[in-house]
Amino acid sequence: MTQLTIAIAKGRLQSDALDLLKSIGINVSDAGESSRRLSIEDQTGEYRFLFVKPGDVAVYVEHGVADCGIVGRDVLLETNADVLQPLDLPIGRCRMVVAALADAPPNGHGMLKVATKYPGIATRHFGSRGQPVEIIQLSGSVELAPVLGLADCIVDLVETGRTLRENGLAVVEDIFSSTARLIVNRASYQLKAKSMIKLIDKVGSTVREGARADA
Ligand code: PRP
Repeated sequence: MTQLTIAIAKGRLQSDALDLLKSIGINVSDAGESSRRLSIEDQTGEYRFLFVKPGDVAVYVEHGVADCGIVGRDVLLETNADVLQPLDLPIGRCRMVVAALADAPPNGHGMLKVATKYPGIATRHFGSRGQPVEIIQLSGSVELAPVLGLADCIVDLVETGRTLRENGLAVVEDIFSSTARLIVNRASYQLKAKSMIKLIDKVGSTVREGARADA
């Protein structure tokens, strides 16, 4: 039996990703889900799961340590990973935006200080319009930066908008919308073709059925 290793982004995407896999009959035991183990197999031994930071999913898949993974488009655009992206998934829906203090939006003149966890995306976005920026890279709680005067604005993800609202920030501009993707290692797609195509087909038909039900 060929075993497929699937890297899953820990955090907000994790439970939706596991639910999606459950809906096609791949069960990660509840013990696994709630435990601290970072690598577990499903009951059949057909699949192994790696739980890693979102930014690392593409790294594990690109290097072939994981055959495939589930991760947000935002991370893929930031890391420019060389992986196949056969399926767009209806989970992890959010927007990448520029946001600033609601009562003091930046005037767009001169050097803009931009705090972000996504330096690549922010640099490309402002670079494409010739806006000079100083990128201040943070690891989290980015919304604090304009509040405390560290930056003029932020480039960050918005899901419900609650974090922005509760910190007195507002969206200045949308950059792109993002959902999760199933990503696949190029060599695994060839070497484990049968198992891989079975997985992609199953996930794909569940996603399409869900879309028809929503229509
Ligand atoms: C993400 C994102 C925002 C927040 C948006 O951060 O960077 O801060 O979620 O969600 P909302 O619109 O539903 O409020 P995350 O929770 O991953 O934590 P972090 O800031 O520590 O990275």
